[in-house]
Amino acid sequence: MSEIRCIGICTGGGDAPGLNAVIRAAVKAAILKYKWKVIGIPDGFDGLIWPEKSRELTLTDVSGILPRGGTILGTTNRGNPFHYKIMENGVEVIRDISDSVIANSRKLGIDAVISIGGDGSQKIAQELFEKGMKIVGVPKTIDNDLCATEVTFGFDTALHTATDAVDKIHTTAESHHRIMVVEVMGRDAGWIAIEAGIAGGAHVILIPEIPFSVQKICEHVALRESFGKRFTIIVVAEGIKLPQEWKEKRRTGSVGPRIGDAVAAGTGKEVRVSILGHIQRGGSPTPFDRILATRFGVAAVDLIAKGAFGKMVCLRNERIGSVDIGDAVGQLKTVDPQGELVCAARAIGMCFGD
Ligand code: F6P
Repeated sequence: MSEIRCIGICTGGGDAPGLNAVIRAAVKAAILKYKWKVIGIPDGFDGLIWPEKSRELTLTDVSGILPRGGTILGTTNRGNPFHYKIMENGVEVIRDISDSVIANSRKLGIDAVISIGGDGSQKIAQELFEKGMKIVGVPKTIDNDLCATEVTFGFDTALHTATDAVDKIHTTAESHHRIMVVEVMGRDAGWIAIEAGIAGGAHVILIPEIPFSVQKICEHVALRESFGKRFTIIVVAEGIKLPQEWKEKRRTGSVGPRIGDAVAAGTGKEVRVSILGHIQRGGSPTPFDRILATRFGVAAVDLIAKGAFGKMVCLRNERIGSVDIGDAVGQLKTVDPQGELVCAARAIGMCFGD
């Protein structure tokens, strides 16, 4: 058992519904179970660059935050203390300021840190751990693409939001006999797209894992027309690999309109595009996400109590466990193109554009 009196908590990377539930659970467990003091570090590891911005988190501070989206601590997906951009004599330079981050955490009296974040934040956590910081990780991403854990909190909420959008698009698509493209998040993996597509009864699902052609999509639209179905819903993940012939550089978030234009040209039908964007990152977490986030928060505190630093909590076979952060980072979990989910979708006539 390591001697712990005070822990710090920070949230880094893009936010996800359930972050506040993790913070609340960790603060409550730390105070009620272990009698530790808790310091809230604002805006990811940036908060340790300006330690005066950190503040104690009491039970009162976390009261009422369970159903709230976002993070009361703030977050950033920019700052990395190992490659930190600063201005020197009017010129932007990159510096390694990790030593001062570690020194500042000591100045604040923090004995160990809980880093709640995605792959990028966990990479930083691992590097800080290698430099001697006592740190444990809690995985987070709405994309659900971290290999080390079966599910990340935030995904279920994002999936509900995306499915609700596909449901709403359905009625207007059918009324107007249109093709509707719904672009969802998923930078490297198509989990939101395939699951919202299946849950919402989409007709075409485009994911980064399965190469597609516009011609196949248009053929599917024609097939539906031959059955008397005059509307088609296409769910597309933002991270799809655009066909070779579309030489221009891809920008995140811009694939939906391009698919829409190409399908309009290929079918001669009216097309409308909805980009869900950051709506998927907001809102009140679902009960599933609140429960998973609570379990993760408590488990992270227990890891610290056991002295299991350099570990990240995870869900495996529906049980909470832990893995080495170093083994978890950089390992993406993507949709298996031959897997059961894709096969089930194909079996009910869904098209992946291939
Ligand atoms: O990784 C989660 C994610 O929501 C991606 O799906 C998306 O590409 C990205 O974050 C957007 O991040 P930002 O907040 O920088 O726009």
